Amino acid sequence: MDLLGLRAPGDEADKKKMSACVLEQEDQLDSAHSLAASIGHTPLVRLRNSARGLPAGVEIYAKAEHLNPGGSVKDRPALAMILDGERTGKLQRGMTILDATSGNTGIAYAMIGAARGYAVTLCLPKNASPQRKRILRSFGVNIIETDPLQATDGAQLLARRMFLAEPGKYFYPDQYNNEANWRAHYEGTAPEIWDQTEGRITHFVAGLGTSGTFVGTTRRLKELKPTLRAVSMQPDSPLHGLEGLKHMGTAMVPGIYDATLADENVAVTTEDAQAMQKILAQQDGLLVGPSSGANVFAALQLARTLPRESVVVTILCDGGERYNE
Ligand SMILES: Cc1ncc(COP(=O)(O)O)c(C=O)c1O
Repeated sequence: MDLLGLRAPGDEADKKKMSACVLEQEDQLDSAHSLAASIGHTPLVRLRNSARGLPAGVEIYAKAEHLNPGGSVKDRPALAMILDGERTGKLQRGMTILDATSGNTGIAYAMIGAARGYAVTLCLPKNASPQRKRILRSFGVNIIETDPLQATDGAQLLARRMFLAEPGKYFYPDQYNNEANWRAHYEGTAPEIWDQTEGRITHFVAGLGTSGTFVGTTRRLKELKPTLRAVSMQPDSPLHGLEGLKHMGTAMVPGIYDATLADENVAVTTEDAQAMQKILAQQDGLLVGPSSGANVFAALQLARTLPRESVVVTILCDGGERYNE
């Protein structure tokens, strides 16, 4: 305290230390029941009706990432990047989390930011789905809309400019270039898949957005099983309806993307993805979004060509209720 204009030595520092200590104790007491603890450990679902007619002995599974508390696979990297920011001191109390996102990472930042006491500002293309924007606003996010024709690239450029103009105000995780993004999958998604398939996985298929899911999961799975084959999937054209995915040939390539990890690259049309989305909902009871439809479409195409004892795993990235019919 500084009542007489004289500052007792160590007073402020002690107070800070004490509150950090209290926070730490609270974190420890609460960690098992925290929002953070409910992220990950998602079920691995065997696709049955939507996968009819596969060659004998070929199995296909989907990791139900839409069952994360924020409703998508992006809860994992968002939590990892925020924790990394806190650990490195780049994110401190009173700062605002700022990033560019087509929606799901934003929802994850918004949810985790609210629970940990940070304001969140997001740049996203004007054409992001109204459902997602509504969710973001419910968490109290400040949304800045960018040119839809520039897709997520335009949102990325604006977020970077805002951060550079006021670096002390913002924590800018920059999911496209943040190693904690792919590490979340390296340390979480991949070992879970490994355990859930009891090491039987032979093929992994995932779409590319920031590429964190594909890069982190594949990197770890290939360490665990060098014979594993990984297939990366992208939209077939620059103008597509697969929210969250990038057409790498024409988009800004994420810094964390490692093209050497893929044994094969496939392209999926928006129409095929949407048709598969419908089949997943109506035949397997899985209400998921178009990028999940694209993942399963690519995984099924691959599975049809495989021999007995093949085990294909792909990702259900988010839920279908966030999209228009
Ligand atoms: C719906 C959806 N699917 C797929 C992805 C791609 O995931 P990643 O960024 O890990 O490549 C994203 C990323 O935002 C997404 O929102």
